[in-house]
Amino acid sequence: MATDSVLRPGELKEVLLKEIEAADLQALDTQEVGSILEVKDGTARVYGLASAMAGEMLEFSVSETGETISGLALNLEEDNIGSVILGDYLKLREGDEVRCTGRVLEVPVGKGLIGRVVDPLGNPVDGLGPIKAEAHRKIESQAPGIIARQPVKEPLQTGIKAIDSMIPIGRGQRELIIGDRGTGKTAIALDTIINQRGQDVICVYIAIGQRNSTVAGVVEHLRETGAIEYSIVVVAGAADPAPMQFIAPYAGCAIAEYFMYEHNRHTLCIYDDLSKHAQAYRQLSLVLRRPPGREAYPGDVFYLHSRLLERAAKLSDAHGGGSLTALPVIETQAGDVSAYIPTNVISITDGQIYLEGDLFYANVRPAINAGISVSRVGGNAQIKAMKQVAGRLRLEYAQYRELEAFAQFGSELDQATQRQLARGQRIVEVLKQPQYTPMPVEKQIAIIYAVTNGYLDDVAARDVRTWETEFHEFMDAKHAEVLKKIRTKRTLDDALIAELKRAIDGFTALQ
Ligand SMILES: Nc1ncnc2c1ncn2[C@@H]1O[C@H](COP(=O)(O)OP(=O)(O)OP(=O)(O)O)[C@@H](O)[C@H]1O
Ligand SMILES: [Mg+2]
Repeated sequence: MATDSVLRPGELKEVLLKEIEAADLQALDTQEVGSILEVKDGTARVYGLASAMAGEMLEFSVSETGETISGLALNLEEDNIGSVILGDYLKLREGDEVRCTGRVLEVPVGKGLIGRVVDPLGNPVDGLGPIKAEAHRKIESQAPGIIARQPVKEPLQTGIKAIDSMIPIGRGQRELIIGDRGTGKTAIALDTIINQRGQDVICVYIAIGQRNSTVAGVVEHLRETGAIEYSIVVVAGAADPAPMQFIAPYAGCAIAEYFMYEHNRHTLCIYDDLSKHAQAYRQLSLVLRRPPGREAYPGDVFYLHSRLLERAAKLSDAHGGGSLTALPVIETQAGDVSAYIPTNVISITDGQIYLEGDLFYANVRPAINAGISVSRVGGNAQIKAMKQVAGRLRLEYAQYRELEAFAQFGSELDQATQRQLARGQRIVEVLKQPQYTPMPVEKQIAIIYAVTNGYLDDVAARDVRTWETEFHEFMDAKHAEVLKKIRTKRTLDDALIAELKRAIDGFTALQ
């Protein structure tokens, strides 16, 4: 028996549809909101964000002031998540709200950053006003695969004679600078940046865990030499929270990657230094109660650096041919290269430049130990003319190092040995180079040619530096065309060698 109160199915559907349409779902806050369980040392445990992803950006709301602070979800556990706080964690309290953003951490990128000093989140810290970003880029991204790459083939001239001749670096290579405290690691990196003037390379210097005064000094030198015009400085100082130091190299790399991928440019990233980066990561891992491993570092500390350095690349022509060269810096304790972090980074890079305290204090600066420094791929990128003179240099230098130890016994030496020793001493003198004076490759070739062909054998070792300075002045003034030919031809043919010889003869005749 039908009654009037029964709704027909068609009517029911209509009512439901009307109700659904009327509901304003946008206005409803359907976001998951969690709350802070505890805050300590730059990290927080958060309850109630069951859908957070590893590495996702979180938003902490400070209950007292209403401002928001970014965070990063790192540990996803059963009933809570461990996250790091990228900002002033002292403002946060237990019970404050936390929201997921659904995004992985990003930094602003673009030409607006060139010439600026920024923190790892891309905020300017140089007091020069806001930065206009062209885009945002995830701080962690996958390294290009083998198909997207091509072998390293162009040189990245550092302007340092000992490096460009014996440990050459190519664009897209990863070359480690390793040494004790105060042995001139930063100096090499800085000179390399200064030498990129006019070379179409964008340089990103990432200072991790250094004193702010040291970084200010670096920025000052970049300004003085004009190198800041093509450089970006990313700073996470010793006083900044460990999470900031932890993300700094990834952020800096993303800033450089943008130019490599989107503008097909050549870039150079200097991570100064990764020892302090590993320490910052160890600190926050221990606070997050991750199990400590060797030297109390968490088990994934190798992956920490490998995923960063793998992002260095020389892209194939189909992908634009841009490059990202990485110069990570590692500080050793008392020359111990077999400690955990140094061995890790040595195994990830394509070679290393060893700096030695003993050499540094014996006034051999840059204090490069050429015997154990290597570059596994850069030789392919060296210009031919440099290869021609460098082979002999390396050989004579190695022979000298061997004989030197022997000669210390003070026994009588035959003439040939004495000659080799004298040659070696002059080579050592020629390879010394003051800071902030990178040298163009053609001048390097001229002086290396002169020393390996015996033109300096009669010059007293202590006078070699003066001889060299005057020689370069003479070449600039009288034989600029020879230098130009070396630069443009990039190889020493017989005619050019004859010209170079004549020029050097002309100079020695004046002495
Ligand atoms: N080629 C050089 N000639 C003369 N002095 C140099 C040379 N290279 C570096 N120095 C000086 O040596 C000192 C240490 O250099 P630098 O700061 O580059 O070393 P570092 O290894 O980066 O030190 P830290 O471990 O403190 O970072 C500085 O005072 C610098 O001016
Ligand atoms: Mg340094």
